[in-house]
Amino acid sequence: MTHPGNITPDLGRSLAQFLKEEQEQFPDIPEELLPILHAIAAAGKAIDKVVRTLGLVDITGDQGTYNASDEAQQKLDLLAHHWLLDALAHTGAVCAVVSEEAPTIIELPNSNGKYIVALDPLDGSPNIDVNAHIGTIFSLYQRQTTQSMAVQQEDVLQKGNAQLAAGYILYGTSTMFVYTARHGVHGFTYHPAADDFFLAYKAMQLPKSGRCYAINDGYFEAFPGYVQHYIHRCRRNGYSARYTGALIADFHRHLIQGGIYLYPPTKKHAEGKLRLVVECNALALMAEEAGGAASNGQQSILSLQPQAIHQRVPLYIGATNMVQDLLAAVV
Ligand code: AHG
Ligand code: MN
Ligand code: MN
Repeated sequence: MTHPGNITPDLGRSLAQFLKEEQEQFPDIPEELLPILHAIAAAGKAIDKVVRTLGLVDITGDQGTYNASDEAQQKLDLLAHHWLLDALAHTGAVCAVVSEEAPTIIELPNSNGKYIVALDPLDGSPNIDVNAHIGTIFSLYQRQTTQSMAVQQEDVLQKGNAQLAAGYILYGTSTMFVYTARHGVHGFTYHPAADDFFLAYKAMQLPKSGRCYAINDGYFEAFPGYVQHYIHRCRRNGYSARYTGALIADFHRHLIQGGIYLYPPTKKHAEGKLRLVVECNALALMAEEAGGAASNGQQSILSLQPQAIHQRVPLYIGATNMVQDLLAAVV
C-alpha cells in the first residue's frame, strides 16, 4: 500500500515572525501593522471556531436587519463585525473602521490611532448556512486629517492606491490568512492545535493567463455586450466556469491557478454589486502585488476616487492577460 508524502506540518514561521522579518527588511512597513494584523487574525480565529461548529451553535440564519447596501444581515455577519471591531479597538493604533455592516464611520476609542481599517467582516454570507466557503476582507490606510478632530470622510474615502496593506482570511477547507504590505503577497495556513497561522505560500504570483472564469451566469442576459462577448469566448475556448458565491474563494483560486472573476453591471445593480472601499480595493491591491490586474472596465480599481463608503463598482479581476482581453472588447 502506498502512503501519501510527509504529513508532518512545517510550522517554521508564524504570521507574526514573518511580518517582523518583513518589517526589518522593508522599513516603509509601519510598525503598527503587526498589532493590527494580529488583531484581525485573532478575530479570524474566533470566527473560524464558530464556523467549524456550524449547526451546533446558533450562528446560522438572518439577524432580521439590513445593512447600508440593503442586504439582509446574517447573524455571523454581525458577530464577525463586532469581533473585528473589538480586536481592532484594543490595538490602540486604529482610530476608525468602515465596515460593510455599518452605515457610517465607526470611531474607536483610540484618538491617537493613525490608521483606518476598511472591512467586509464576512464575505459570501449566503454561503454560511450551506457550509460553503466564506471570508473576511480588510484594507489599511493612514489617517489624513489631524488627530485632534473627528475622523473625516476624506480619511476613509482614499483611493485604493493609498492602501498600506490589505488582505483576507478564507474560511475554506483550511483557514488561510493572505496579506500584502506592498512587498508581495504571502499566505498563511491556520494550524488548530498550535492555534496560529504559519507561512504556507511566500511571494504568491497570480499566473498571467488562466483557463477559469467566475461569474454569476444566471444574470447573463443582463450583462453588457462586451461581457457577453467575453463569456462566449471563454466558452469557445473550453475554459472552466467556477463560481462559489464568495468573491474571496473565487479570487483565491485565481491567485493560485490563474483565472478571472467578473461582477459586471446588471439590471438589479447598475454599478455592479461589489463595494469599492470594503471589498474591491483590498483584492485589487493583492492582485496587482501578485502580478495580476483589476479594473472596473474603464480604469484600474486602485485609481478610482471613492465617493461614498458603500459605493459599488463593476469588478474584473485576476490574470492580467484575461483582464486585458476583456477590456479589449469594451466599446
Ligand atoms: P457579501 O456576502 O459580503 O455581501 O458579498 C457577497 C458578494 C461576493 O462575495 C460574491 O461573489 C457575490 O456577492 C455574489 O453575488 P451574486 O449572488 O449576485 O452572484
Ligand atoms: Mn463581500
Ligand atoms: Mn460581507
